[in-house]
Amino acid sequence: MSRLVYVLNGPNLNLLGKRQPHIYGHETLADVEAECRELAEELGLELRFHQSNAEHRIIDWIHEARETAGGILINPAAFTHTSVAILDALDACGFPIIEVHISNVHRRESFRHRSYVSLVASGVIAGFGTQGYGLALRRLAKLIDEAEPAAAVDPAPALDSMRQP
Ligand code: DQA
Repeated sequence: MSRLVYVLNGPNLNLLGKRQPHIYGHETLADVEAECRELAEELGLELRFHQSNAEHRIIDWIHEARETAGGILINPAAFTHTSVAILDALDACGFPIIEVHISNVHRRESFRHRSYVSLVASGVIAGFGTQGYGLALRRLAKLIDEAEPAAAVDPAPALDSMRQP
């Protein structure tokens, strides 16, 4: 399985560090990207890291990932609670998807308790702050490792023993 992972960030996450720091903390998205890249190297993953305020761009990246990647880490931000289109795009991917929320959405307004994306996510991380991205990457690496075909055993000797003289 491909070790390429897409890290996708939804609307307003470009304001991370400036927007509601009491909820989302002081780290910027650039800080999060730098940390993800460092960890990805340690885990042997290749990263594409994107953010957009436009739903269609996120969908286009999911389609791109579908062709090339081994997994997606997505913080769909407000689209989590509204976007059937992002759900459908993710549902067309045959690899692990981890949903990340910086805040604990379950402790917030009731409209944040529903996630369309969770319907297709292998796992969900919420309320761990930006640390959740690293945890999600570690989990994706493990899922990708587990999906690798069993350690290469040369089939030739076994076949040899079955051949007629
Ligand atoms: C968020 C939670 C969403 O409800 C919110 O709309 C966001 C960020 C989070 O990371 O905690 O923009 O996804």
